[in-house]
Amino acid sequence: MIISHMNDIVKRYGSFRALDHVDLEIEEGEILGLLGPNGAGKTTLIHSLAGLIKVDSGDISLFGKVLGKNMMEIKRQIGLVTQEIAVFEDLTARENLEFFGGIYGLRGTELKRRVDETLRFVGLTDRAKSLPTKFSGGMKRRLNIACALVHRPKFLIMDEPTVGIDPQSRHYILESVRELQQQGTTILYTTHYMEEVQSIASKVAIMDQGHVIAQGTLDELIENIQHEEKIHLEIIEEPTNDVLTELRNLGGVKQVIQDKKKIQIISSGGAENVDNVLAVVKKVGGVRSVTAEKPTLEDVFLTLTGKTLRDGKEE
Ligand SMILES: Nc1ncnc2c1ncn2[C@@H]1O[C@H](COP(=O)(O)OP(=O)(O)O)[C@@H](O)[C@H]1O
Ligand SMILES: [Mg+2]
Repeated sequence: MIISHMNDIVKRYGSFRALDHVDLEIEEGEILGLLGPNGAGKTTLIHSLAGLIKVDSGDISLFGKVLGKNMMEIKRQIGLVTQEIAVFEDLTARENLEFFGGIYGLRGTELKRRVDETLRFVGLTDRAKSLPTKFSGGMKRRLNIACALVHRPKFLIMDEPTVGIDPQSRHYILESVRELQQQGTTILYTTHYMEEVQSIASKVAIMDQGHVIAQGTLDELIENIQHEEKIHLEIIEEPTNDVLTELRNLGGVKQVIQDKKKIQIISSGGAENVDNVLAVVKKVGGVRSVTAEKPTLEDVFLTLTGKTLRDGKEE
């Protein structure tokens, strides 16, 4: 079942379109990995979906209802983990959760039970009485996630929840996301880390410059560029510019990347490509090794956007 639709969404900041005719579907029970470089429009998309900003055109529905009406009812079922950590620094971990639970109408023993459960879930039971100022970045992040989970949302939206934290916390968070999915929560997981999407997402949406340029399972996305192949060559002599130009000019060759004696070639499928490539490099001393590999999500991104995800990234 589709729990959320975004239909032809445009969101402008002045004359700049942060969302440029975006379509997105989110299916119940999935972890949708929304992947895109910084500035792609991920946060804008998420904030539109959560009803925090108003879009200029297009419509959004959640749980079968159009956003704008029924907002309270819809918001009660959403949890939002914002990109910037938003917790009260002068309240303890427990008090933070009590506050957020209270906003969602939890009271008394139910509130206490949910706060305890959520603290346990994010591994902060022992630190319940501590102030977040005493926490590491990873622990603060886990508290931030807990605040979005305390009311047990059906749909959890996470905006780059692992940026700038230690590897253990990152691992813990990814495991928690998997566990939430197993418990039936639908998750929209935004990131610019390819490997996170590859490891947890059941579906992937790729975003760039305000567009969602592809959506599907990892296998489907790879299948769509399957006609491409990636050839790795190690050659005996470092190639001259003439050789590289000759390779680039071969029919079917889309990209040639050279690093000393290593050359990586992306070409459209077809057995003759490898033959042609080999014929060229034979003229300059021959080949030490050749391998061809299956495309990865990185290749999907490269094919669709013409750039690597690293280009637009700051760590
Ligand atoms: N409030 C704003 N005013 C003007 N421009 C904005 C605003 N918010 C975001 N943008 C611009 O919109 C684009 C998308 O931003 P954002 O949604 O934050 O991308 P992402 O989360 O993928 O990094 C960026 O170019 C950003 O500078
Ligand atoms: Mg963002």
